[in-house]
Amino acid sequence: MEKINGLIVTAALIFLFTAGCGSRADIVFVEGKEVTGSSAMVVSAHPQASRIGAEILAMGGNAVDAAIATEFALAVCYPAAGNIGGGGFMLIRFNDGNYDALDYREKAPYGAFRDLYLDEDGEVVRGLSTTTHLSSGVPGTVDGMINAHKKYGTLPFSDLIQPAIDLASNGFIVERGQAASLNSAARAFNARNSNPVPFVKQGGWSEGDTLRQPDLARTLIRIRDKGREGFYGGKTADLIVEEMSRGNGIITHDDLALYRSVWREPVSGIYRERYRVTSMSPPSSGGVALLQLLKKSEDAGLYGMEFLSVEAIHMMVEAERRVYADRAKYLGDPDFTDVPVEGLLNRDYLRERMESFDPQRATPSDMVSHGFPPGIESEETTHYSIVDNYGNAVAATTTLNGGYGSNIVVDRAGFILNNEMDDFAIKPGHPNMFGLIGGEANAIEPGKRMLSSMTPVIVERDGELYLVAGTPGGSTIITTVYQIVVNMTDFGLTLGEAVAAPRFHHQWLPDQISYERGNPLPSDAVERLGQKGHSFSGRGSIGRVDAIVVSADGDIKGVADPRGDNRASGY
Ligand code: GLY
Repeated sequence: MEKINGLIVTAALIFLFTAGCGSRADIVFVEGKEVTGSSAMVVSAHPQASRIGAEILAMGGNAVDAAIATEFALAVCYPAAGNIGGGGFMLIRFNDGNYDALDYREKAPYGAFRDLYLDEDGEVVRGLSTTTHLSSGVPGTVDGMINAHKKYGTLPFSDLIQPAIDLASNGFIVERGQAASLNSAARAFNARNSNPVPFVKQGGWSEGDTLRQPDLARTLIRIRDKGREGFYGGKTADLIVEEMSRGNGIITHDDLALYRSVWREPVSGIYRERYRVTSMSPPSSGGVALLQLLKKSEDAGLYGMEFLSVEAIHMMVEAERRVYADRAKYLGDPDFTDVPVEGLLNRDYLRERMESFDPQRATPSDMVSHGFPPGIESEETTHYSIVDNYGNAVAATTTLNGGYGSNIVVDRAGFILNNEMDDFAIKPGHPNMFGLIGGEANAIEPGKRMLSSMTPVIVERDGELYLVAGTPGGSTIITTVYQIVVNMTDFGLTLGEAVAAPRFHHQWLPDQISYERGNPLPSDAVERLGQKGHSFSGRGSIGRVDAIVVSADGDIKGVADPRGDNRASGY
């Protein structure tokens, strides 16, 4: 039946091409982990979302149209991180070389305050910022998509959200990894919701099952028909506020009515003369940190080192240690705190920060603090990359924070609320769920955006669109994107190789190199890095990259990380 639904959708689309675009009826989609198209590509965390985005492109939509359709589709078929109850960042490069960046990050409710998650003794109350109604920031995704459409959309908004509505009401096909993920979240869903939620199946989910979400379909229909008001006002707002009152949450009608996404100037820098690297500005720390890492790498001559050699890993880890110390001190919402972006990217400052770098030995993190730049500041997230047949590109990263966010589903509205408040520094020096610490710049204030690590990136080579990439992974997002960029620009790997390569990560504190147990670093490198004073901590996989590379002859290659169910779809 589900397969039949899929066929009907495809047949209807082919019909559309015949009716609306004449010769486009012959479009054949290429789909898989690593595919090459000649016109357009979408790579996302779920095959059905990638296909929906690619179909919008094939209908003549641009990359922003496809991004909106993909984002809403992920909100249905990738509930671990796709969302309308969360937020994100969208980076856009137009075919004339101009950029824009949309911040639809969640905001602290106006009732939030600095010590919201502390008890009367000033101690952090365990779980309050991660598992309760109080953990949710005011969602930004719906306003973001409407804002993006208003500025750059070319197809009717209803056409972009309709595939998600159909997917919610007809159901989507559960992928293999997804079945395991949903099953492991069942206990949390049951504990945190008073009514049954569609994400839990008696006896457990299996690959190929169909998951239907009729309440979510009705919420999406309200958004389709009423726009902003369909989410931030009327029935959906009432349902969110009712859900808050069930669990001592603090999001009010005013919080929802006042939420607005914001267009921001992205950060950009030149790497090794040929590459322009552009990414998200604060309130994400991602772009600033990535550019800091690349400038330090250029100075240290990373491009002359051998891939995954002791020398290269040591240099990269020592740069990461110093960059994350700066992040903890200076990065926060630019609407509330002066983030010294220019100072942090100042070449002399970055050289000074690396003066303590010892090629022979690890610098213990307790001997590294933040610097003083001139002018002074689940792990689950999901990323999609899009290139359209007009040469425009979108890199967007969106999140609920933890896997399935707070696991709290808005009753009768069918969507999961984020637990993004944990991205604030809930107490100075107290690690968040990613082990990140923060200070004043990222303290909770009413209406403020919590600091993010999300790093959607677009790289030009010799002035032409080259790479569109991003990943989930909490604090490891920045270092994963950094590795993808240098794997290609410095170590000469193909995109497929760059994505599949072993990943490692250092974030200043804790003072350790995380590595992927199933995809380890060469053992002799680990041994020699240990001799330099580094310690290691194995973990599951790091990140799930969705990326596109455009070759000089115009081929568009999509690569979906083998670590997940991710899929590329293009033509
Ligand atoms: N919630 C993960 C991040 O924004 O960095």
